[in-house]
Amino acid sequence: SQNIYILGIESSCDDTAAAVIQNGKILSNIIASQKIHEEYGGVVPELASRAHQQNIVPVVDQALKKAGITKDQLSAVAFTKGPGLMGSLLVGTSFAKSLAYGLDIPLIDVNHMQAHILAHFIDEEGFDKPPFPFLAMTISGGHTQIVKVTNHFDMEVIGETIDDAVGEAFDKSGKLLGLGYPAGPEIDKRAKLGNPKAFKFSKPKVDGLNFSFSGLKTAILYFIQREVKNNPNFIEENLNDICASIQYTIIGILTDKLKKASKETGIKHIAIGGGVSANSGIRRALKDGESKHGWTTYVPKFEFTTDNAAMIAIVGYLKYLDKDFAAQNVMASARLKI
Ligand code: KG4
Ligand code: ZN
Repeated sequence: SQNIYILGIESSCDDTAAAVIQNGKILSNIIASQKIHEEYGGVVPELASRAHQQNIVPVVDQALKKAGITKDQLSAVAFTKGPGLMGSLLVGTSFAKSLAYGLDIPLIDVNHMQAHILAHFIDEEGFDKPPFPFLAMTISGGHTQIVKVTNHFDMEVIGETIDDAVGEAFDKSGKLLGLGYPAGPEIDKRAKLGNPKAFKFSKPKVDGLNFSFSGLKTAILYFIQREVKNNPNFIEENLNDICASIQYTIIGILTDKLKKASKETGIKHIAIGGGVSANSGIRRALKDGESKHGWTTYVPKFEFTTDNAAMIAIVGYLKYLDKDFAAQNVMASARLKI
């Protein structure tokens, strides 16, 4: 049978990424991460957009080169339509449109949140694809959702954050502790050396399957202010225990809702995605769910969990098979929903 090659382009936030997929298999997955935001402790939209403009051509060139193909062999171009930062999305959208137009091949628009979930359908040795229906929890610096996935493009958001994303909870807590940005990985590392029950933070009361993380950030702020007043060295002396306690609280919030979602839907196949799925505590909690609740859990290869273009390319491939193409006048959409 004929080979289908699709170029995927991702530019929704602060990573400029391009990937080439051959049928269901990733041939290249290139990411230019923007270091510039570290000194600001968060993503600065104007700087992100400018960096995308500088990165997109070399990143796409590298993706094609690494895949060992030329532009002329491409079957289609897939790009992230949203959700994300408008200025960032526009760079990928316009680039993809002109490339597809110039090559006279189909253009495919991709929902970034669906892509985090469909990353599980990339052919990768040692990684099983979840069977339908399954629950997907997407946890990152920009998103926190629980999605019921009935088919590739039949998805329903059954729970989501009403304020901060879970990755923001890690990053903002870390900032209060004087850690660098993003703080998630550092908190994870220190949590392994600390006592998760050293300090207790109350969990938010949120209805149904929704999440809230802004209260936790405030609770941590007041806790630190109070303790530092008594002991100026409180943070340094207890850093590992504080990190372990914060992580323990966050994981509790996530797993409580996941358990509830599984119970309510009767679905025991659980998949996760997004940068926070790298967290060792959340991975352990999922494994525990296998023995405690009879779950089967799915964690994609790390490079496919954080923002990447391979996940855009696999959605491009699935839509290509459905002949689900976009028109040339398709627009980026900052608040695109699943
Ligand atoms: O998916 P991602 O790379 O970008 C988006 O936000 O879309 O996720 C980045 C987020 C950051 O908030 C970072 O702190 C968090 O994922 N993160 C972690 C870990 N690794 C990355 N949070 C907790 N533990 C980790 N090991
Ligand atoms: Zn993302």
